[in-house]
Amino acid sequence: MKPIALTGIKPTGKPHIGNYLGMYRPALSLMENYLGMYFVADYHALTSMHDSAAMRELVYEVAASWLALGLDPDEAIFFRQSDIVEIPEFTWILSCFTSKGLLNRAHAYKAAVDENLALGHDPDEGVNAGLFFYPVLMAADILLYGSDVVPVGLDQKQHIEITRDIAGAFNRTYGDILKVPEGIIQESVMKVPGIDGRKMSKSYDNTIPIFAPEKKLRKQIMRIVTDSKRPEDPKDPEGDNLFALLRFFANPERLEEIRQLYLQGGAAYGTLKKELAEMILAHFADAREKFEDLMNNKNYIDDVLLDGAEKARQIGRPYLDAVRKAMGID
Ligand code: TRP
Repeated sequence: MKPIALTGIKPTGKPHIGNYLGMYRPALSLMENYLGMYFVADYHALTSMHDSAAMRELVYEVAASWLALGLDPDEAIFFRQSDIVEIPEFTWILSCFTSKGLLNRAHAYKAAVDENLALGHDPDEGVNAGLFFYPVLMAADILLYGSDVVPVGLDQKQHIEITRDIAGAFNRTYGDILKVPEGIIQESVMKVPGIDGRKMSKSYDNTIPIFAPEKKLRKQIMRIVTDSKRPEDPKDPEGDNLFALLRFFANPERLEEIRQLYLQGGAAYGTLKKELAEMILAHFADAREKFEDLMNNKNYIDDVLLDGAEKARQIGRPYLDAVRKAMGID
């Protein structure tokens, strides 16, 4: 059997180009050499999202995105996290091998505490225990199936380290039962700029959503922030976020032409934004059509996810049984 590459995406926002370049594409490209296990991390979303209608819709959108962007459910195992009944049980078990101090230092929790302290609030104000346990839940996701590699963005690196730590603690107690996974960190494509030049992220509201209606997508691209240089002025392509985005979508010859226009003068931001919009629409033309079809056929998505959950549980169940046996609770 092929080694397992596993990764999850939280259904907390509409999939955007930063997700695609940093996450979907590299994860799917591993499928040649790995059995891909991909899932919609709805339990993780629950730490921050308590709107049931939005949850339902976003789970479908993220699922449809995976499928539209090329995930073949006959080749990969594709599922929804909350369909795996073993996950909450395993999370509890693993929590008993997780040092609390380690969780105190986890980035997301620490950031929430630091923000409270800066405001003079109680350190844990507004922090639910789910956020605190987030890394343990993620360790359960990874360790349940004996995952070999976990492709993630740089922001998830600490979570992989915590997972390895938890697996090590368990194995030191009970013997080599859990597979200690390797992270595959996508450093190079992490820095996809948003329309304001900061990292593209839902929390900055600066994304270019892949599946938005064409008009909205074009409008968002036209909002990319540039400086006030005139077309004839020479410009530095390196510090420019429009150029950084063009870099991902222009073919090498065209990119070089554009680079020369920047350097020598002649690059008009408005025209180049329109060109970028064309490139993005062309690049995602098939995926956008497929996404539409899928969103009009949610029963199909349900079937695919349930089928995937069954396959995932077939892999996960024996691991959990072995864990329980090792602990003397079989
Ligand atoms: N925490 C990840 C994120 O925010 C999502 C995730 C949940 C995940 N479980 C995982 C990623 C397991 C990789 C493996 O992006």
